[in-house]
Amino acid sequence: MKKKYTDRVIAPSLLAADFSRVGEEVTRAINAGGDWLHLDVMDGHFVDNISFGPAMIQAIHETNDVFLDVHLMISRPDHYLPCYVAAGADCITVHVEADHDVTDTLQRIRRAGCLAGLALNPATPFSDVVPYLDKIDLLLCMTVVPGFGGQPFMEDVMEKVKAAADYRRENNLSYHIEVDGGIGVETAAISAKAGANVMVAGSTTFGAKDMAAAVQGIREA
Ligand code: DX5
Ligand code: ZN
Repeated sequence: MKKKYTDRVIAPSLLAADFSRVGEEVTRAINAGGDWLHLDVMDGHFVDNISFGPAMIQAIHETNDVFLDVHLMISRPDHYLPCYVAAGADCITVHVEADHDVTDTLQRIRRAGCLAGLALNPATPFSDVVPYLDKIDLLLCMTVVPGFGGQPFMEDVMEKVKAAADYRRENNLSYHIEVDGGIGVETAAISAKAGANVMVAGSTTFGAKDMAAAVQGIREA
């Protein structure tokens, strides 16, 4: 079912999964009630870590139909975009700080039939994304400095989440607001109150013994 920005969406982040059993981990996330699967692509350049690329995403796409929320933490999203479209991404999020023509990349994502997401790091001001807000389906406000899972939630980012929700209302737009980094029950509640509806959660979902309870907790927070 297509999600609206008024729906709470829980997106377990595969980065926190057991990489020796990826297929089973994806199944675990779906059975636990995860709405989307969040896929963190890191190139060792835009962020100081390397995760996985399109082959992994394609393998997941071929084995089930979970919504694939692809977060590109790479320097040249414009160059690699076609690989992620072909791999089966449903939403592709690129960073405003990366080295590309942002408007052009967002247009290409939509033309390929995917949802277009735009991400900003904690240090990037909201004003940097304003020129693109009428061209996106999702705004990702990073609540940690990207690169690694398991970092503490940065509450000061909530000012940007509120600004994004206000801007959306004032301009009759309908983009999702996603938060990513340090999300658990308590921080999901803080984020939802500020206006976020898509909750990415790695360690608190894949790291939980009872993943269904963890997902449910974040959904009700
Ligand atoms: C951080 C990634 C996140 C990460 C979140 O660079 O973008 O998606 O997986 O991990 P947790 O939920 O453990 O903070
Ligand atoms: Zn992410």
